[in-house]
Amino acid sequence: MKQVSIALLGCGTVGKGVIDLLAMNGPIIEEQLDTKIHIKRVLVRDVQKYAQIGLPAEIELTDKFSDIIDDDEIEIVVEVMGSADFAKGCIEQCFKKGKNVVSANKDLIADYGIPLLKLSKQHNVDFQFEASVAGGIPIVRTMYSSFNSNTIEEIIGIMNGTTNYILSNMTETGMSYEKALKEAQEKGYAEADPTNDVSGYDAARKIAILATLGFHSAVTFNDVHVEGIESISQEDIQHAREMGYVIKLLAIARQDKDGISLNVHPSFIRKGHPLANVGGAYNAVYVRGNCVGDVMLYGQGAGALPTASAVVSDVMNVILHFNINITGQRDFVWHKAVLKPQQDICAPYYLRMVVANAPGVLSSISHVLAENNISIRSLIQKDETAEIAEIVILVDSSASGLVQDSIKKMEALPCVRKVANAIRVIEV
Ligand code: NAP
Ligand code: HSE
Repeated sequence: MKQVSIALLGCGTVGKGVIDLLAMNGPIIEEQLDTKIHIKRVLVRDVQKYAQIGLPAEIELTDKFSDIIDDDEIEIVVEVMGSADFAKGCIEQCFKKGKNVVSANKDLIADYGIPLLKLSKQHNVDFQFEASVAGGIPIVRTMYSSFNSNTIEEIIGIMNGTTNYILSNMTETGMSYEKALKEAQEKGYAEADPTNDVSGYDAARKIAILATLGFHSAVTFNDVHVEGIESISQEDIQHAREMGYVIKLLAIARQDKDGISLNVHPSFIRKGHPLANVGGAYNAVYVRGNCVGDVMLYGQGAGALPTASAVVSDVMNVILHFNINITGQRDFVWHKAVLKPQQDICAPYYLRMVVANAPGVLSSISHVLAENNISIRSLIQKDETAEIAEIVILVDSSASGLVQDSIKKMEALPCVRKVANAIRVIEV
């Protein structure tokens, strides 16, 4: 049997998952490839720490990248460190030395995926990154090699387990945002600093990668309009439920004749839609192709073994390419992206506001909306005291710019204490 030597850059959740998966599934992998995958070296910062975690004796731990880049026996480098700059430099050096790379690093790929793919092609090596989007869900390769006979019209994902866990918990148990976040951290879904998760940045990186592949368009993280879940309250969750919706953090990429829109924001979605039923820390990606119609992939978007499943499958693909002499041959086509202006993107909106409990208030508010040509679908007055009332308005599909302008004008009205939230309704 042949043997391929690989190196891991990083031995945290995912790196250790790769080591464990290869130990667990080695025989079925070797049988398919007629090749043994040998993890020769692992790069970490703190060698002492990792000497204690019971790694297989044949793995050499190092804190020097030169030990890996200068080792000609290593043919595939698996980058599972995270962050962008150091990882990018390492990957570029690997390509230049003729080493193939597998990466799980969405931060890096969302910003530098296209230049790195071009560099890998220039050096005739493979660059694969299945685990960079939705962990164990096989969506990256599916996007470019199974949906490729379609024009992709829409990609909608629940692609951050932490926020889905928080919103599901708030919905199912009635707990507050703060308590649900604390629980997500205790369970290890959210980082100690959960900013990237709750602010929507993590999901934004993933949708940028999928839109690049699905729409054949060069988009990056900076092209995504991002709103997080920090402002979602138990009141919003309850009102959504009463109206037949659940609230999810959706990453949405649409390709219309007049351009591409890329958004991450909390959304009302109808109960009964497959995405509404994705609970806990699970992820799902819903894709609409012009011929295949609607397809949804569902599974674990994070965690050691689910993510390692995607990483090792990439390593196996590289080896399959070695075996049939097509390494480094993949060519992608990208067009310059035409992005739709954010203010023109339309959706129905839910608006929750706290107002004075006085005559004429509803007419002042509806006047502002009417001036912006926004049509009210429903209006409900909720909790009230002698002085204040909460009102919930659903408006028909309206341009984001007009809704934002209306919110500013309503907040300037003496009778409006605050517009507490404005959430888009996604009708798919
Ligand atoms: P992690 O647990 O924080 O592990 C990172 C590993 O990389 C550690 O072993 C760390 O070593 C090492 N490392 C970091 N910077 C280094 C440097 N400059 N030099 C040498 N070693 C370095 O991270 P992770 O959760 O496994 O995530 C790894 C990557 O996979 C990230 O890009 C992440 O976005 C992606 N990903 C993760 C998941 C998941 O479920 N965790 C899912 C999908 C994708 P030290 O401990 O010595 O610093
Ligand atoms: N922090 C991410 C999540 C996992 O909560 O989904 C890695 O992508």
